[in-house]
Amino acid sequence: MEGPHSAIGSRPPEPQPLAWAGVRRVVVTLEPHELEALRPFWYPVLPLEQLGDGPVGLDLLGQRLVLWRTAAAGGDGAVAVAEDRCAHRSARLSGGRVTEAGCLVCPYHGWEFDADGGCRKVPQEPARPIPARFRIRAHRARVRYGYVWVCLAPEARHPIPVFAEAEDPAVRLIHGFFETWRCSPFRVIENGLDNYHHHFVHRGLLEATSPIPAPLRDGIEPTEDGFRFSLPLEVANNGTLSATLDDHSQRLTVERRVRWIAPLGLSLELGWPNGLRQRIVLFAVPQDGRDSRIVRFYFRNDREEQVPEANVTRFERGLIDQDRRILEGIVGAYGAAPVHENLIEADQPIALMRQRLRQLLDGTGAAVAGPSH
Ligand code: FES
Ligand SMILES: [Fe+2]
Repeated sequence: MEGPHSAIGSRPPEPQPLAWAGVRRVVVTLEPHELEALRPFWYPVLPLEQLGDGPVGLDLLGQRLVLWRTAAAGGDGAVAVAEDRCAHRSARLSGGRVTEAGCLVCPYHGWEFDADGGCRKVPQEPARPIPARFRIRAHRARVRYGYVWVCLAPEARHPIPVFAEAEDPAVRLIHGFFETWRCSPFRVIENGLDNYHHHFVHRGLLEATSPIPAPLRDGIEPTEDGFRFSLPLEVANNGTLSATLDDHSQRLTVERRVRWIAPLGLSLELGWPNGLRQRIVLFAVPQDGRDSRIVRFYFRNDREEQVPEANVTRFERGLIDQDRRILEGIVGAYGAAPVHENLIEADQPIALMRQRLRQLLDGTGAAVAGPSH
């Protein structure tokens, strides 16, 4: 099992055989036009602490990228991102190094590139002016919430989501999980919008005791970058859960405010009776059309003395592994809007997400925001 902040850039181990294994997964990758449609969005691609001093290579939407720190350490603009392919003879730049001035040095013949992708040095021809065409394709990178975010288009459709509590000194940020799951990223986000899998999947951890919720009718509101809805959930407070809450009541009702952040993000705000507020942020980032990079972090208005971070991550580890077993077991259908399924009325948020994504990926919708009526 991978722990928090697993190494990046390497292929994950083969998944453990599942109890019901024997089914061969049919992998359907994204079409080129779908990958293109997913480019103008911000994706969290790496915890900043994993960047270190050297360049890091990773995949995003089928593109091999290299990330490195520029000279201006700290704050936005501290990280550069470009295609991981040298303009000289195509060596992978992520195997190189970074100069003190923040330039990226190719490991093959030492050409140097700046944060904008321009070539600054050709050691073999020091006296010659460097032609403008000696450049690599740079993209935009930002640092927010302790992660490097990347957008592969000149303009993003929406800004990086703002979570106001990040500015609140009474709120702590827990970097929960950064790991690769062998499943569709769309399924991961659908699972976050699913209001009735708790009753079946999360037994032993999050014991839902409220009735299986009625379908949401008109309760889905548009937002700038997707939609949101609220739904309470009543749970039995077992020992593992209570260790994350500093509350030992037998039964609790948690207020849940769920927000889809198109195309592949989710925010889940939980309000507990004792005043604990926790926001779970989840992104499922497509790498190469086969896997999902899971980025999951938490804002909480309590303190380490009340609930140790280790209690939160232990509980969440168990919870997301329950989800993961289901999601990695789904055969085929990596894409955004599988056909040959039978959605019911209670799947309304998922149906709406699929509709919005289909419009986005086919280029038939002007926006991804707003509910359908
Ligand atoms: S391939 Fe990069 S310097 Fe030659
Ligand atoms: Fe779940």
